[in-house]
Amino acid sequence: MTIKIYSASTTAPVNIATLKYWGKRDTRLNLPTNSSISVTLSQDDLRTLTTAAASSSFETDKLWLNGIEESVHTPRLSACLAELRQLRRQHEQVHAELAPLSQYHLHIVSENNFPTAAGLASSAAGFAALVRAVADLFELPQSAEELSRIARQGSGSACRSLLGGYVAWDKGDAADGSDSVARQVATKQHWPDLRAAVLVISDAKKETSSTAGMQVTVATSTLFQHRVDVVVPARFEQMSAAIVAKDFETFGKLTIADSNQFHAVCLDSSPPIFYLNDYSRRAIAIIERLNAIYGRIVAAYTFDAGPNAVLYYQQKDEAIVLGLLKEALPDINGWKPSTANIIPSFPEGIPKSLLDGLQAGVSRIILTSVGDEPQPTSKSLIGTDGLPK
Ligand code: DP6
Repeated sequence: MTIKIYSASTTAPVNIATLKYWGKRDTRLNLPTNSSISVTLSQDDLRTLTTAAASSSFETDKLWLNGIEESVHTPRLSACLAELRQLRRQHEQVHAELAPLSQYHLHIVSENNFPTAAGLASSAAGFAALVRAVADLFELPQSAEELSRIARQGSGSACRSLLGGYVAWDKGDAADGSDSVARQVATKQHWPDLRAAVLVISDAKKETSSTAGMQVTVATSTLFQHRVDVVVPARFEQMSAAIVAKDFETFGKLTIADSNQFHAVCLDSSPPIFYLNDYSRRAIAIIERLNAIYGRIVAAYTFDAGPNAVLYYQQKDEAIVLGLLKEALPDINGWKPSTANIIPSFPEGIPKSLLDGLQAGVSRIILTSVGDEPQPTSKSLIGTDGLPK
């Protein structure tokens, strides 16, 4: 007799913060010192695909990421699985007909459709996909907001990838983190014409991880407390309102200001943390000039804990933004066939020398847009033998 294998598969999106999470008040639960806001990006372009399977025939929990078996004995993964099993146990107590999946071992297989080395927010999509896949396998009744509390324990920013569109993560006040959850500010359909261009900026040197970097900032930066107490609470209200009003000018100004302040508190840490490199700064200079020439925010840049630039812009400005990027980056990977008719061009006032230097540092462009929450899929990464296909 073959023993039944239960499984569920999902895709989950990357999210890029426009109001940054930087600093924890509880490092075990990943409780943040400030609330944050992000845009969920389209899974057509960037996604993690995860299959979770359970069976009484599995002897231990196992995890494979991008084809390589990884340890399941990390505090973050253990915390997520323990919480999910606890919820399943409760579910089984109410529904006696359910198979006892809470007692079975799990096999989890996960793959990104983008290179992990590209330094994109892969842990956010990864933990969101893992929590969503196991929750679906367990047929949990909990909402995405409730599940975000679990994903947050895997990686703080992962809580925001359980929702689509425009997402806030409320920092919460409770010591147990029960109110530190993600919620939707607006759906993708509410403001569908937001676009993103990710410039993957190569950098050989190993960066300080977000987890380590934010602890140094919390412990040593004097600017940080002002950011947390005064700047972010005001920006959080303004940015939420700008999203609801589809006010790109305010949204873009705040996005730029917050990226710059995040990197300022990194520089104010001891030892200082540098995530931007010369190519990142060149991208900043180009976008600042572009916005100055047009007298409005045409594109807003933001940088996470690495040198990659993420540019947000509106569909109506596609010809301006992509024309400029085509002029600067004609020969890199990632240009979509749908952009073939966009003519390379740049406004008078941007020195050609500024554009000419960019291509040497950019390995790839990813063109995408605001996207949806994790999606269940019939595409399974686990075979009938319970192992990766
Ligand atoms: C700069 O969520 O990766 O991208 O909670 O320690 O896993 P951990 O950190 P992580 O930090 C993300 C930091 C950021 C800003 C953001 O996404 O809000």
